[in-house]
Amino acid sequence: MNLQDKFNDFERRNKEAELGGGIARIEKRKNQGLLTARERIELLLDAGTFVEMDKFVVHKTTDFGMEDQKIPGDGFITGYGKIDGRLVYVFSQDFTVFGGSLSRTNANKVIKVMDLAMKMGAPIIGLNDSGGARIQEGVESLAGYADIFYRNVMSSGVIPQISAILGPCAGGAVYSPAITDFILMTKNTSYMFVTGPDVIKTVTHEEVTKDELGGAMTHNSKSGVAHLMADNEEQAIMMLRELMSFLPSNNMEDAPFKPTTDPTDRIDEKMDKIVPEDPNKPYDIKDIISNIVDDEIFFEIQPYYAQNIVIGFGRMGGQSVGFVANQPNFLAGVLDINSSIKAARFVRFCDAFNIPLIVLEDVPGFLPGTTQEFGGIIKHGAKLLYAFAEATVPKITLITRKAYGGAYDVMNSKHIGADYNFAYPTAEIAVMGVEGAVKILYRNVSAPEELKKIQDDYKQKFANPYKAAEVGYIDEIIYPRESRKKLIEALRMTRTKNIKNPNKKHGNIPL
Ligand code: HXC
Repeated sequence: MNLQDKFNDFERRNKEAELGGGIARIEKRKNQGLLTARERIELLLDAGTFVEMDKFVVHKTTDFGMEDQKIPGDGFITGYGKIDGRLVYVFSQDFTVFGGSLSRTNANKVIKVMDLAMKMGAPIIGLNDSGGARIQEGVESLAGYADIFYRNVMSSGVIPQISAILGPCAGGAVYSPAITDFILMTKNTSYMFVTGPDVIKTVTHEEVTKDELGGAMTHNSKSGVAHLMADNEEQAIMMLRELMSFLPSNNMEDAPFKPTTDPTDRIDEKMDKIVPEDPNKPYDIKDIISNIVDDEIFFEIQPYYAQNIVIGFGRMGGQSVGFVANQPNFLAGVLDINSSIKAARFVRFCDAFNIPLIVLEDVPGFLPGTTQEFGGIIKHGAKLLYAFAEATVPKITLITRKAYGGAYDVMNSKHIGADYNFAYPTAEIAVMGVEGAVKILYRNVSAPEELKKIQDDYKQKFANPYKAAEVGYIDEIIYPRESRKKLIEALRMTRTKNIKNPNKKHGNIPL
C-alpha cells in the first residue's frame, strides 16, 4: 500500500464506523423522527469541538455468530468537546448497532471517558438509547455495567453527571442514569424500565403500554425518576446545554459567573401584591422567583413532580443559585413524602457543587394522614432536614408567609445552619395555625365570642414574624419589593463562607 492507499483505507474505515448499524437502520430511526447518535453529539457540543475516541473498537464475542458482525466503534460514540467553551466528556449510544446494547468493549470506552472526566474535573454527559446488557455477551456485559455503576458512584459529588434518555432504555441502561445527577427524557420517543411490558404481562399479568410504564411523563410526574422533559430531541439537547450553564465543572470550582444587565438593586412594587392579604389564599411562588432572579430566567427541575415544592436554578447578580420553594398553589405548599425527597436530593446536589441555596418558605406544615405516615413521612421528611443541616454552602431563607411547626425547622431555619433569614411582614411563624392551636389549648371553650377573642389574640401574638425577630431567629424583616436587592446583598455577604462539618467517613442520611 502506498501512502495514498493508506489514506484512502483510513477514509473508508472512518466512513464505515460512521455508518453504525447501516443505512437501513438509520433510515428507520429517521422515520421515527430520531436523530443519529452522532447528530446528537454535534448538536450538544460547541460547533467543531467534538473529538472522537476509540472509533475502531470492536467487540470480541464469538457466540451467536457475532464474530461476523463487527461494527467499528461497537455502537457507542465516545469522546470530549466543549459546551460554552468548557470541557465535557460525552458518550452517545447508537441504537442501530445491536440496539445500543452494552458490550464489554463499548463499556470499556465509556469507562475510559468517565476516568478522564474524573482526572480532568469535567462533567460527563450520557446520551442514552440502549436495550441494556448485550444479550449475546452474558456476564461480560453485566461486568461492564457494574464497572460503569461503580464509576458513577465514585464520580457522584465530584463531577456533574447528566443523562439524557433519547430512546427505549431497558435493564442496565436505566441504572447508570439513575445514579447520575439529572435525567432528561423526550416525550413520545424515550422510555425507561427495568423490564418491559411483555415481561410484566408474563410475571404479574398486568397490561401496560410502553408509554404508561416508562414514558417521559410517567417518570417526570409519577415515579420522580426523571428531572426534565423535552418535546423533542433538539429541545432536549438545548436544555442540557442550559442546565450545564448553571453548574461548575467539578466540586472544587464555582459555577460560571454570567454578567447581567438586570440591576442587582432593582426594587419592584409589584412584588408587594403577590402574597395575598388572606393567608388562606394561594399564589404562585414562581411569580416571586422569576421576579428576583436575573432576567427572569428560572430553570426549573422536576416541574411535574411533587409540585408542592419548587426547585431549580437561577442567577442572582450573575451567580448561580439553587432555589427551594414551597408552592402555596399546590396542596397549600405542604411538605409530604415526595416533596421532601425531591428537595433533599436537590439540596445535596447544590451543596456538593458549591451552589448557594435560597429557600422561599410558605409552608403550613407536614401533610397529615395514614397514607403519609404509613409511607414513612417521618423518615422521608427527615431527609430534607438532614440535607439542609449538612449543607455547608451559603444558605439563605426568606419566609413569605407561613412557617409552621416542624416545617419551620426543616425549611432551612437558623437553627440548622442557615446564614441569613429574612421574613416579609406577612410571615406567620408558630407551632401551628390558629384553628389547630386554639382547639388544643382551649378544648373546653365553646362560646363563639370567647373563641373568637382567643383566636384573635393568638393571631395577634403568633401570626407575624416579630416573635421570631425578637429572639434573633429572623435577621431582617423586609418589604417584598426589595427582595432581589436584599437576597443579593446576603449572597454577597456569604460569598467567603468556609465551614466544614465534623470529619467522618460519611453520614447516615435516613434513606
Ligand atoms: C442485543 C439487542 C438488545 C440487547 C435490542 N437489541 N436489545 N441486541 N442485546 N439487549 C437489538 C434487536 O435484536 C434488534 O436487532 C435491534 O436491537 C432493535 O431492537 P428492537 O427490539 O427491534 O427495537 P424496539 O422494538 O424499538 O424495542 C427496543 C427494546 C427491545 C424495548 C429496547 O429491543 C428490548 O426489550 N430489548 C431487550 C431489553 C432487555 O431486556 N435488555 C436486557 C436487560 S438486562 P436488529 O438486528 O433486528 O436490528 C440488563 C442487565 C443489567 O440490562 C442489570 C444491571 C442492574
